[in-house]
Order: sequence, then C-alpha cells, then structure tokens
Amino acid sequence: MEAWQKALLAWYREQARTLPWRGEKDPYRVLVAEVLLQQTRVEQAMPYYRRFLERFPTLAALRAASLEEVLKVWQGAGYYRRAVNLHRLAQGVEALPRSYAELLKLPGLGPYTAAAVASMAFGERVAAVDGNIRRVLSRLFALEDPAPKALQDLAQRLLPQGEDPGVWNQALMDLGAMVCLPKAPRCAACPLRAFCQGQEEPERYPKPRRRAV
Ligand code: ADE
Repeated sequence: MEAWQKALLAWYREQARTLPWRGEKDPYRVLVAEVLLQQTRVEQAMPYYRRFLERFPTLAALRAASLEEVLKVWQGAGYYRRAVNLHRLAQGVEALPRSYAELLKLPGLGPYTAAAVASMAFGERVAAVDGNIRRVLSRLFALEDPAPKALQDLAQRLLPQGEDPGVWNQALMDLGAMVCLPKAPRCAACPLRAFCQGQEEPERYPKPRRRAV
C-alpha cells in the first residue's frame, strides 16, 4: 500500500463519522442507505433510513408491502421514483445478487449504487465514485475535468490491495464530506496534504459538472 493510502485509512479509523449504516454487511440495509443517499444529505437521510428499516426490515417485508404503504413511509424523503424502484426490485428478486455486474441490472441501481453495495456488503473490489470522490481524486491528481470513464478507471486502480474495499470507498467519501469540501476545503486538516497536487488552488478542481440538457 502507498503512503497516501495508509494516511487516508489511518485518518478514517480515527475520524470517520458514526453513521447508522457504517459496518453494515446486510446488502438490503446497505442498499436502502445508498438509495437514500443518492439524493438526500446524510443528516437528512438518517431518520428515513431508520424509519424505512423499522417498517420493512427485510427484502421479504418490502416485497409483502403495498406500493402505497412504501410511498407513505418514504414521505418527506423526496424523489419518490426511488421508493417505487425499491418496491419493484423487491418483487423481482428473492435475494440481492452478490456481484456488481448483477446488481447493476436492478431497477434504480446505477454504477455508483451497485458499486457501493457490492463493495460494502460483499467486499467486491469495485470503486464507488460519487460526487465527493470525484472531487477528492480530481484535486489529488489536479484533474480539471476528468471524463466519467477515466475517473472510474482511476478510482479502480487506486483501490488498495488487501484492504476492505467498502472501507476504502467510505474513507474517500468521508474525506470529501468532511475535509475536501467544495468551497474552502480544510487542507490544513487533510491527511493527504503532503500528496495533493491540487492544494495550491483546490477550488479549481474539478470543474463543475456540465448539466445534462
Ligand atoms: N454518501 C453515500 N454513501 C455514503 C456512505 N456509505 N458513507 C458516507 N457518505 C455516503
């Protein structure tokens, strides 16, 4: 493992946020967390995560529920398409598949969510690239506008050997959420400051993502 990778993991062990889905290995619970976090901020998502799992603790419980009931429990979290997809997913599979490639075929799962579930619940070596990780890696390597495929390939190459890939993915996410902030990043507190190529002008990296029209 390289020095910067060790530094990030050491930081994560000490500074990681305590979040209700941390260390979670049940793929269904990881999935619910990651679907909520697709569009909802961590602090906002937490009560919905608890409420949803209290009412639908397993995929089977979700399968047995009516869509109306599911939407009611989702109420307030927004982006209801997510709840519709979760309910549809529960009707379609007996259990969650155990690989990134199979997870990607499920309704509502894009590359990020499939990679998050595969790495956190099943330990598959696959990089989950969200907005936070795009920002962290763009600064670390001074990339102004990395193409999605190039970024995914880079993140994949950076996964340390022999380390829990779910832990690694979440360490990068936490660094992006707590230190490598979009505006006024806290570079003085960053475990990667000795390795970061973007710290002279962090806000230059990455360029805002072009919106789909
Ligand atoms: N954002 C999305 N998924 C996350 C996770 N597992 N931990 C922290 N932030 C996240």
